[in-house]
Amino acid sequence: MQPTASQRVRAGFVTALGREPTVVADAPGRVNLIGEHVDYLGGPVLPVPLRQRTAAALAARADDRVVLRSAQGDGVWDGTLAGLRPGSLPGWTAYAGGVLWALREDGHDLPGLELFVDGDVPLGAGLSSSAAVSCAVALGAAGLLGHDLTPALRRSLVEVCVRAETEVAGAPTGGMDQTVALLAEPGAALLIDFGDDPPATRPVPLDLGGAGLELLVTDTGVRHRLVDGGYAERRRTAEAAARALGVEQLARADADAVARLSDPLQRRRARHVVSEVDRVRTAVAALERRDWATLGRAMDASHASLRDDYEVSCPELDVAVRVARGQGALGARMTGGGFGGSSVALVPGARVRDVAAAIDDEYAARGWGTPRHRRIGPGRPAGFVGS
Ligand code: GLA
Repeated sequence: MQPTASQRVRAGFVTALGREPTVVADAPGRVNLIGEHVDYLGGPVLPVPLRQRTAAALAARADDRVVLRSAQGDGVWDGTLAGLRPGSLPGWTAYAGGVLWALREDGHDLPGLELFVDGDVPLGAGLSSSAAVSCAVALGAAGLLGHDLTPALRRSLVEVCVRAETEVAGAPTGGMDQTVALLAEPGAALLIDFGDDPPATRPVPLDLGGAGLELLVTDTGVRHRLVDGGYAERRRTAEAAARALGVEQLARADADAVARLSDPLQRRRARHVVSEVDRVRTAVAALERRDWATLGRAMDASHASLRDDYEVSCPELDVAVRVARGQGALGARMTGGGFGGSSVALVPGARVRDVAAAIDDEYAARGWGTPRHRRIGPGRPAGFVGS
């Protein structure tokens, strides 16, 4: 058996520091089934926590020094508590150190500390590797401070992690990834409604096995970076559309009013948002009555809307989705922020290999790199890991 992320992080901590960590916590990546680019506009989303996790090992220091290390070998940050600030935390340390900064901003009296991070959530694949880092670190730091893992603590850590991602990493994300990582129930999708404050959450059972179905996630290998500008631009345009419509949350806008928007770009972007909200409702109802064909159709329509109206897909995602469907997937769509990353397909178990092989063939024929396929099963939320 492969060691888990938390076993590896513990071993890595001991190797780097010559002592055991005081706390180990871990958090899952996620795949979003449906409800894309609506979380920051007050809409509902339906992500699934992954089995792939990121783990953080921590120990307090007697002084105010903070050292952040990652097994992925991408830079050590060595500074002080006061030095944890927006602008002073490059790369992955923006997520880890950003959370420590946000906790201090929130009034938590953090000690100096040693932190080591390791994980198997694929990086940059649209499966929320950054939120997995933030949530594992936030929980680990809460553990160092001796906090009990109550639902209220989990909710407050969602806010801490979103703040770190927005204000330190500079990615103006919506909260879906952090919420599912911290508040999911094991083995289920999590319906999160950002129309409520705080967002309402409800687990939706995902009995794929009983139906002989699997989720096949295909990582196109095209790397997106949410801080690159496309995501922020979509968000700005959508918020401008909400203002033009006189609604606080674009997800609540009336479809007829959207159709009458005078700005054509705002009209298309807003059409994606209001139609995606309907598709999430349809998908949840379909899941609850195990109507997989309807769920699949909603996924297909979501992809078309993200490709044509929100324009966050890319040729590699479109091909993965089209081929999956041609090979017997009930539905398929891009998942996550887009501009690369991964697609997710709902596939009869007996067809999974053929779907993956056909996508590989089509990529090879186009001279693209080989994509990476993963059969995904629902995992569990972030938690402390015993020794
Ligand atoms: C990224 C963000 C999320 C969400 C998705 C798009 O994953 O982190 O908040 O906006 O993109 O649905």
